[in-house]
Amino acid sequence: MQDTAATEAQAATASPAESGAARARVTLGAASREEEKPVKISARNVNVWYGDTHAIKDVSVDILDKTVTAFIGPSGCGKSTFLRCFNRMNDTIETARVEGDIRLDGEDIYAPEQDPVLLRARVGMVFQKPNPFPKSIYDNVAYGPRIHGLARNRAELDEIVESSLRRAALWDEVKDRLDDMGTGLSGGQQQRLCIARAIATSPEVLLMDEPASALDPIATAQIEELIYELRAQYSVVIVTHSMQQAARVSQKTAFFHLGELVEFGDTEQIFTNPRDPRTESYITGRIG
Ligand SMILES: Nc1ncnc2c1ncn2[C@@H]1O[C@H](COP(=O)(O)OP(=O)(O)OP(=O)(O)O)[C@@H](O)[C@H]1O
Ligand SMILES: [Mg+2]
Repeated sequence: MQDTAATEAQAATASPAESGAARARVTLGAASREEEKPVKISARNVNVWYGDTHAIKDVSVDILDKTVTAFIGPSGCGKSTFLRCFNRMNDTIETARVEGDIRLDGEDIYAPEQDPVLLRARVGMVFQKPNPFPKSIYDNVAYGPRIHGLARNRAELDEIVESSLRRAALWDEVKDRLDDMGTGLSGGQQQRLCIARAIATSPEVLLMDEPASALDPIATAQIEELIYELRAQYSVVIVTHSMQQAARVSQKTAFFHLGELVEFGDTEQIFTNPRDPRTESYITGRIG
């Protein structure tokens, strides 16, 4: 697993001339789209119930690697429920029942031999409300690598903490106060700390459920920029109520309505030329 992740990371940082995106540009011309990436998560015929409430209805979708996918749709349509299927967070909800087939790199994540804790290190999650642990900034980021034994010594742990905070665009703001409490940071800093914590275990997929909805415009812009950059290394799935945000950060968009996946496609197509009238109504503000 680590080897594959390392290889992918190297591939992501390969020189632009060698990259697939560069080749695609040559083939398709100047105004081309980016090359389509391989499938990271495939979901087939997924249904979720909370007791008798049928919250997700037969949803099938492919989430691509190194791509940002946005989940949009009116409140209560099932975006968070479906997102939580990808790292088995619904397991923690007693009334929830998940059916269907969900695969990460072809591996059934609901197979009996799967350990949900290890799965969540591979499929990290960032929530709407920043939720740093009541620990130091350092210990927040070091938490995952420690429980998963990812560092052999303090120097390696220091290195993981620094690189995670750098990738989360927070390092410069906190490098002189790593022993301060994470909970003492501003809201936008706390959210970037939670992102650093999530990426510290080198996940392959990052799930974000309205990660910027509690933030001011400056912090939101920082998070959006970060999401846009993270796709070089990760597959990112973001739930958002902001059409502008979905359009700015994502390459793929899925529109949900009443538990159904109504439409899934290139973000540009969904926003400029939706095929389903329900998608059009939602993006033009008539439903939701
Ligand atoms: N823990 C739960 N127990 C029972 N029902 C739930 C639970 N969580 C969600 N639901 C129900 O499942 C449906 C989908 O909810 P979900 O939270 O996934 O929607 P959402 O699209 O994320 O909405 P929002 O945009 O408001 O966050 C709703 O009908 C909701 O009431
Ligand atoms: Mg939600």
